[in-house]
Amino acid sequence: MEFHLSLVLDNEMTFTSFSPSNRSDKVGEAPEAKSADIVEALRRAKIAQASWAKVPAPVRGRVIANVGRLVEKNKEALSKLVTREMGKVYLEALGEVQEVIDTCDFFLGEGRRLYGQTVPSEMPKKNLFTFRNPVGSVFVITAGNFPAAVPSWYIVPALLAGNSVVWKPSEFTPVVAKALTSLFHAGGIPQDLLITLVAEGGETFSALEEGLQQGLINKVGFTGSTEVGRRIGAKTGEYVQSACLELGGKNPMVVMPDANLDLALEGALFAGFGTAGQRCTSLGTLWLHESIHDQFLARYSKLVEGAKIGDPFQDVLYGPMISEKYLENHLKHLAMIKAHHKISGSSGIGRITAENPRAGFVGDASQGIYAHPTIISGINSDDELYYTETFGPLVTVGSFKDLDQAIELSNGHGYGLSSAIYSTNPDSVWRFREGISAGMVSINNSTSGAEAHLPFGGNGKSGNGSRQSGIWVLDQFTRWQSMNWDWSNKLQKAQMDVIEIDHNPDFTL
Ligand code: UN1
Repeated sequence: MEFHLSLVLDNEMTFTSFSPSNRSDKVGEAPEAKSADIVEALRRAKIAQASWAKVPAPVRGRVIANVGRLVEKNKEALSKLVTREMGKVYLEALGEVQEVIDTCDFFLGEGRRLYGQTVPSEMPKKNLFTFRNPVGSVFVITAGNFPAAVPSWYIVPALLAGNSVVWKPSEFTPVVAKALTSLFHAGGIPQDLLITLVAEGGETFSALEEGLQQGLINKVGFTGSTEVGRRIGAKTGEYVQSACLELGGKNPMVVMPDANLDLALEGALFAGFGTAGQRCTSLGTLWLHESIHDQFLARYSKLVEGAKIGDPFQDVLYGPMISEKYLENHLKHLAMIKAHHKISGSSGIGRITAENPRAGFVGDASQGIYAHPTIISGINSDDELYYTETFGPLVTVGSFKDLDQAIELSNGHGYGLSSAIYSTNPDSVWRFREGISAGMVSINNSTSGAEAHLPFGGNGKSGNGSRQSGIWVLDQFTRWQSMNWDWSNKLQKAQMDVIEIDHNPDFTL
């Protein structure tokens, strides 16, 4: 099998990556790709794909197995890099890397399945079959908050199914992207079959347009904001393609009066403030039944006030924001606070500095990009904060009278990614499941922390219905091909040459 050499960029411009927990720690750098570089990568990947698709699927599965084992062997090194470059706490980074391993574990076996079906025909001496074919070349664009796990949700099944991938990771996590790519290559993925290039948004979008126009892209996978997802969806639509879109969320958590409130508190703490609220599955609005609202809010505020924040290599709830840009975005959301809202959760709001300190901060806040946790209560459906996705350590809180109202409030903003209800009453649980528009529902559990083999994705402003993970993602990276084989040696016409069995329609007992 022949593959072209890997793409080497000689651009002078580079992205320099600094640790968000310590801005004097330079993690590394990556050359800045321009649109033409990405198009060239797409061209090479397209050529490489033709040979890869001919490799038997079980053999491709073995390569994915190699990748999984290598990631496992390098788990600590990669996790440390995730914490250093992106800023999530080390325990979560280990979880993220485990998610890559889990994804490889799932898909290595899929190499021996990738099942098609045998389907009975209407006619004798005729057989029907279905096959999964690779879509071709895939362009993957991902965000910085899950620099290893979320990319692997695209890359692993895409490669397993016989596709090539050009991956544009976040400019905030180029070093993790480089490390992950090198693990794929070391596992046996040919250089040109997976090409990783870091670029700015504008360059990426023009490469997308050019690649689509030149027929070099057959599928786009995008994780990021609804705003950008909308543009990517519209552009791919022009080329009669449907991108796999994993977009924002305003994930509700409903707490019923019959809930185990200690459990709900723990869940709301992790869902709202884990990863500094920078998960697409992070808790948006906490909806509390009016009978428990004041008591729960007081306990939640106290819990958040006492939580340890700081150096992500220490035992803390959360570390820094991913970058200054994420902090700026968070500050914009804080500017949406209105006079009727009540603030709690910390000794200040906004950036943690010497002048605006956080009680009990672990480490030196001035070295990194840290933000106070903020609880904003008194939210109602007219508030900008009700229907705006936030992406930081910020939880909005509102109250409801009954479950119907809680469901209405949970759906009313138009996002539909993740959701949660805390209740011990099966009636409430099943009514919530049926009424909620989200693609994912947690019962007595956090909105975040989905397992890597259940369908992951959202509806409405959260996505176009595409799903990642498990067997479901195969529909993104393969196309069904149906085949009929008539061995009767005559033309048997479907619907017309079908035998009828005599029966008596007037029969009664
Ligand atoms: C994301 O933030 O884009 O369910 C993905 C979770 C993680 C994945 C989040 N397993 O919270």
